[in-house]
Amino acid sequence: MELSLARLVYYSRNRIAGDALPEIDAILASSRRNNAGAGVTGALLFNMGCFGQILEGPRRAVEATFERIQRDERHGEVSLLDFQGIDERAFSNWSMAFVGSSKLDEDRFADIAGQSGFDPSRMSADSLFEILHSLALEEERRSD
Ligand SMILES: Cc1cc2nc3c(=O)[nH]c(=O)nc-3n(C[C@H](O)[C@H](O)[C@H](O)COP(=O)(O)O)c2cc1C
Repeated sequence: MELSLARLVYYSRNRIAGDALPEIDAILASSRRNNAGAGVTGALLFNMGCFGQILEGPRRAVEATFERIQRDERHGEVSLLDFQGIDERAFSNWSMAFVGSSKLDEDRFADIAGQSGFDPSRMSADSLFEILHSLALEEERRSD
């Protein structure tokens, strides 16, 4: 068991003007590079103009990463949903998993989220976590 692991869950509003996908590619590239170096893992979701993200790792590393993310002008209204100590990681194989707005993700999301639709601002930290976790596990199985 790693010492003092923590998990942080937040959502925010997209502020990228125009096509968001190239910017998201850039965000994922720097996330994967920086997070791998800092021992941070997690998942990022982009849908309906919102981001939802889970960061997990050593508490200090998660805090430092989140501070940097909060200053990023590509999103706004960053709202912390949860920050708590955990015993083990849920995304240990992912420096940053991504769940996007592809048709496939949408369909799988719809299966999981049911009729409520996906709007992270209306979701609890637990449901955001469950959705991202199950989609990441499914992705892992598909790429095996
Ligand atoms: C929604 C969102 C999520 C992000 N997630 C991460 C992340 O998990 N890790 C990270 O290092 N940077 C993340 N970033 C990017 C940071 O805000 C920042 O641009 C980056 O860390 C700068 O590092 P670089 O100079 O190495 O590219 C995210 C940005 C946004 C808008």
